[in-house]
Amino acid sequence: MTVKQVGLVGSGIMSSGVAEVVAKAGMDVALRSRTQEAVDAMVAGLEKSLAKQVEKGKLDDAASAEIRGRVRAVTDLSELSSCDLVLESVVEDITVKKQLFTDLDDVCANAKILATNTSTLSVGDIAAATKNPERVCGIHFFNPAPVMPLVEIVRAEKTGSATVSGARTFAEACGKTVVDVIDRAGFIVNSLLFPYLNNAVKALDAGLATRDDIDAAMKGGCNFPMGPLELLDLVGLDTSLSILEALHDEYQDPNYVPAPMLEQMVGDGRLGRKTGQGFYDYSK
Ligand code: 3HC
Repeated sequence: MTVKQVGLVGSGIMSSGVAEVVAKAGMDVALRSRTQEAVDAMVAGLEKSLAKQVEKGKLDDAASAEIRGRVRAVTDLSELSSCDLVLESVVEDITVKKQLFTDLDDVCANAKILATNTSTLSVGDIAAATKNPERVCGIHFFNPAPVMPLVEIVRAEKTGSATVSGARTFAEACGKTVVDVIDRAGFIVNSLLFPYLNNAVKALDAGLATRDDIDAAMKGGCNFPMGPLELLDLVGLDTSLSILEALHDEYQDPNYVPAPMLEQMVGDGRLGRKTGQGFYDYSK
């Protein structure tokens, strides 16, 4: 299965990062968001990222222009009709995702793979909103997608073998390391990572150490590139809260009960880097 044209749906940080990865791998990208303003912002983000790489000498002007030229910004879902593979990274809301997959199933009649980048929702439930669940799987990139080497390929109960192998070939063509996982909330990485992040918030709240010392301890003591509180700010506190809630729903394990401080910060609109305020201040 050869993927030449990829549709990416959603205007968040994931779709724009994946757009860069896919275009760099030589595939054409249709980047779709509901509003022109949102797709324009994503394209501007991509151009900024490419310009930075040219500045650093990692790309030359011609390569940058070629990569940029592979990305088409669209607002109408019907513009994805010729895509071989569509990957959505819209809001983590099962109703929204199901409706999107029902629509994609009609619009993208010839696509070989319809994939979700969900981190916690059931791929099987999403696939059930289509008439062809065998072509639905999870392709889970990590944040920031241009840098993180891993992709989890999620096989739901009805996912076909050709879909799984096509998704693997696609992710490998993007230069990623691929792991296979069954359809359980959090898959491998988030089911193991989020109890740790949650416990870091509980530790801060309990006064175990300061924010800076908790982060410094995990960087220096475990050689992690970021401390847990910095990483929560990168992922987004609202996203992190919804991941923990979904993990708790699936496993009923008290380790996944969100730290009250995390709930409080989300309630206060302190969502991390995206709002300029989280455990750290990004407004300056
Ligand atoms: N987009 C593109 N490139 C980026 C980037 C971004 N958002 N952020 C950093 N980079 C690039 C830089 O340009 C630089 O490239 P270069 O080496 O070619 O010059 C390289 O990455 C290193 O960046 P920096 O020197 O600025 O900073 P660091 O060395 O501190 O690295 C980091 C930044 C890559 C974000 C690193 O701190 C890291 O790996 N952190 C851990 C991230 C992580 O764990 N992500 C997983 C989150 S969980 C998740 O995604 C699951 C989801 O479902 C919630």
